[in-house]
Order: sequence, then structure tokens, then C-alpha cells
Amino acid sequence: MILLGIETSCDETAAAVVTDGHQVLSSVISTQIAVHAPFGGIIPEIAAREHLSNIAPIIRQALQDASLNLDQIDAIAVTQGPGLVGSLLIGASYVKGLALATGKPVIPVDHVHAHVHGALIDIERSIFQNIFPALALVVSGGHTNLYFMENPTDFQLLAHSMDDACGEAFDKVAKLLGYGYPGGPIIESCARQGNATAFAMPKMVAKNSELMFSYSGLKTAVVNHWNHLSAEDKDIRKNDLCAAFQQAAFEQIIRKIKLALIMHPSCNSIIIAGGVAANQQLKKMLEQNFKQRLILPSPLYCSDNAAMIAAYAYHLEKSRPQFPAPGPQNLDFLVYSRYRYQTS
Ligand code: KG4
Ligand code: ZN
Repeated sequence: MILLGIETSCDETAAAVVTDGHQVLSSVISTQIAVHAPFGGIIPEIAAREHLSNIAPIIRQALQDASLNLDQIDAIAVTQGPGLVGSLLIGASYVKGLALATGKPVIPVDHVHAHVHGALIDIERSIFQNIFPALALVVSGGHTNLYFMENPTDFQLLAHSMDDACGEAFDKVAKLLGYGYPGGPIIESCARQGNATAFAMPKMVAKNSELMFSYSGLKTAVVNHWNHLSAEDKDIRKNDLCAAFQQAAFEQIIRKIKLALIMHPSCNSIIIAGGVAANQQLKKMLEQNFKQRLILPSPLYCSDNAAMIAAYAYHLEKSRPQFPAPGPQNLDFLVYSRYRYQTS
């Protein structure tokens, strides 16, 4: 089954052509980082306008790279949410237009769930089913969601962040320290030159929701340390502060996964996905703790991309009783900007 995937939930316009959920024929990503960088974060109105000018050439490029035309595509998968509503609307509206023009079915998919499939694209098909049941953590700029999965389309939400997402905390700390957006890669490289024990950081554990994540207390601790440093110390100790913050952020992830494994001992694997999964220190800490069961995405599929959208859509289609269904066209779906915690 050949799917064209389209992603426009935030600041990347992406299109990809993927066969049977794992053979990526093309994956094109146009990032808006340079456009938003002067503002220190994403400006939703600008993001939507950028998607509008980028979407047609990006899709054309993805089809060209795959040496296919629209007639040869079985269906079109598109991010339905969560994300910035103006950005989502550009992708969804464009895809509805494409579907009307071509008669192809549309498969709307959840962006956060799709991140998990970004980590699974490269898994060999013969062992794919053995991955489940699995724990899956999506750790990105918008979400820190932990799921228990019985199968590739079953997402049972165990925990999420009660405040800031992990990547969001990286972005906010980077902004505080005077660095640009996105903050994750900058903090990672500063942390490499710092001492993670140089600053005390709080451990976040809420009594009755131990599996839940929280990053705003950690962010506030960084703000307090920063405000107590002299101008000269700010220069000298920046890297230490980054290292201590990053270490505490990832220790929380390790603690929560260990706890979730006690609650769900049947898990065959631990899947880590999302932009923060690109961090080498996180990878190292995860490997030290869960080596045998760990699945990490290739760097190509950590941050937002459309291959993960097409891959997840394939598994959704495959799980339907009348797979592969040729239609009918599904054009009445709506986009949603916030995460729907009840989705399954
Ligand atoms: O998955 P993603 O591209 O977009 C969302 O769906 O949010 O994730 C972007 C987030 C940003 O917050 C960025 O700072 C973070 O991922 N990130 C990192 C790294 N690379 C990207 N965080 C920590 N270390 C990194 N190397
Ligand atoms: Zn994302």
C-alpha cells in the first residue's frame, strides 16, 4: 500500500511517500526554524502562512523523489492534530482538495501517536509484532506522553506532563540563557562541556500521580540559579547549568519508565520518540538502563516529518476489518489543536 503522508502541525511542512509503513520512498521536510528564530519561538500566524506557500512544492518534490505521480498513490494521510490550528488547517484543507481532485481516500492521523511510528519505520518486518506489548514515550516540544501499547494502533495513555513538555522546558531554558530556538540541540552541546553536579535540581514527584511528568519546577529552579549568578558567573557557569538541567530532565524520564515497567511488566520493548529523542545524553542514559528492550528512532524521524504520518496511517488502515478499503472519501474530519487525552 503506497501512502502519501503530509505533516503541517507546527513549524515543519513535510511530505513523504511510504510503502507498507516502512519503505520510505521519499521524505521531504521544509523547516521554518530560520523564520521564527528572531522571535525566540514559533509565531502561529507566520507558521500558517509559511505552510501555505510551501505545501504544494513540498508535495510535488516528495512525489518526484519517489518517481511516482498522484495516480499511483493508494491514499493520502494527513496530520489531524494536535498542533497549531492555522497550520493544521493548511494541511487538512490542501489534502481535502487533493482528494476531491483525485478521488483518493484520506486517512487523518494523530500527530503524537505518529511520532511513535517514526521510531518503528526501520524495524524489520519479521520482528515487528514481537515489539508489543510496549511502553512508548513521546518526548517532544509539545508533549511528554507515556503510553502502554498492546499493538501498533493501541495507545493507552499512562501519563503526560502536568505542565511544560520536556522539549518546551529545553526551549525556555535556552531562551533564558540567551540562546536561540529550538533550545534542545543548543542545551545539549553546552551541557557536553558542563558539570551536571554543579547545581542542585529538584526531583519532581507528585504523590498521587507518580507516573505523571512535570517540568515547570525544574525550569523555575534554572531561573532561580540564573538570577542568583553575577554577570561574570553567568558566562563561566552557563554550561554547568545546562548540564545540571539536562541531567535532571532525563533522570525524571528514566525514573518514570522504571515505574511504568513495574506496573506493566509484560512490555517487550520501550519505544522513545519525538524531537528530544535526538539527544545523545538521553540515548546514553536510556541504553545504560534499558538496553535490551530499547527502540530509538533514526535521527531522520525524531523531529516532525511526514514519513511517520504515512507509516502510522498504514497501520491504522491495516487494522480495519476490510483492509485495504478503497474509499469512501473521508473529507468531513476536523482538525484539533489540543491533545485529546481520551483518544485511543
Ligand atoms: O517532535 P518535534 O520536532 O516537534 C513537536 O512535535 O514538538 O520536537 C521539537 C522539540 C523542541 O522542543 C526541541 O528543542 C527538542 O524537540 N529537541 C531537543 C533536541 N533536538 C530537538 N531536545 C533536547 N535535545 C536535542 N538534541
Ligand atoms: Zn512532533
